[in-house]
Amino acid sequence: MKINGQHYRSVWTVGDDAFGIIDQTRLPHEFVTLTLHSAEEAAHAIRSMQTRGAPLIGAVGAYGLALSVREDASDDAINKALEMLAETRPTAINLKWALWRMRGALLNQPHGRRVALAWAEAGKIADEDVAMSEAIGFNGLKIIEGIAEQKPGQTVNILTHCNAGWLATVDYGTALAPIYMAHDAGIPLHVWVDETRPRNQGASLTAFELGSHGVAHTILADNAGGHYMQQGQVDMVIVGTDRVTANGDVANKIGTYLKALAAKDNNVPFYVALPSSTIDWTLADGRDIPIEERSPDEVLKMQGRLADGSVTVVDIAAPGSGAANPGFDVTPARLVTGFITERGICAATSEGLRSLFPK
Ligand code: MRU
Repeated sequence: MKINGQHYRSVWTVGDDAFGIIDQTRLPHEFVTLTLHSAEEAAHAIRSMQTRGAPLIGAVGAYGLALSVREDASDDAINKALEMLAETRPTAINLKWALWRMRGALLNQPHGRRVALAWAEAGKIADEDVAMSEAIGFNGLKIIEGIAEQKPGQTVNILTHCNAGWLATVDYGTALAPIYMAHDAGIPLHVWVDETRPRNQGASLTAFELGSHGVAHTILADNAGGHYMQQGQVDMVIVGTDRVTANGDVANKIGTYLKALAAKDNNVPFYVALPSSTIDWTLADGRDIPIEERSPDEVLKMQGRLADGSVTVVDIAAPGSGAANPGFDVTPARLVTGFITERGICAATSEGLRSLFPK
């Protein structure tokens, strides 16, 4: 992704003992990068959502673990760092997937080789994520082309919820990758962007990305999506996901379930884009996915920019009221039209997933 003409990934190495991220809590008002030097700093960045998005926190967790190996390459230390990083965010399976992959690449290896091996494995995880996102883009493009063929000369309207773009991955994105490719292929597109509450990631991150890439878009209050579907103004929905269970249930940013219900009621195709690192084969269905409960402050306050350019946080609720803030919800597989993966498109069923990922 290019920002002001410069190509960025969402995570990059700085020498061989540090790595960089974009501080996403500062977007869209400020573009600030951070350099992380330890597993503790990586854990803080993930917990505070300076870096976020399921595939991206997998890559950041992997680099964090690699840095811990520089300090202590023993099995014990690797297991401790893994645990510390894994507990930062519970819902996205990619984080645990990447950490366990790192562990597998390190234990049973000679201690003297572990620093180099860890850095190389984290790099592989990041590069593979880019390749998977790019393949998801090409596969999803076919669906958008199909819709464009049915309405020649007219704009294809796509709704996306939250941020599943390059800021949520190492590059390209999952849900947004097909959108970027369709835009680059000259298909006239317009994107309805939501998740305006509780964290505002549609308005602050997805809109920032789409604007940077020149894709036409409009921000919607979360409650407005169903209305535009009823009006025939949404041709398809594409969202990302933090965890897909073996039967095809989908955990994603809170509010996704309501979008899926509205899409079903209005015969709007509802696609979920995911790399295979997001599939949790160990859970039979979505009932056991741990749902992260986040700070009530995300509901009771909002961050914004004042007329003088300074960024501040304001209270928006009645003083003294509490708030509940589940970060994710589970969309049942029956509401999902299909999965867009790096290996192709499949039904949101266990058979569909197994047809693409037999082992
Ligand atoms: O809480 P976040 O911002 O880490 O979660 C973001 C989402 O829910 C995304 O849609 C999801 O991670 C998919 S990212 C490709």
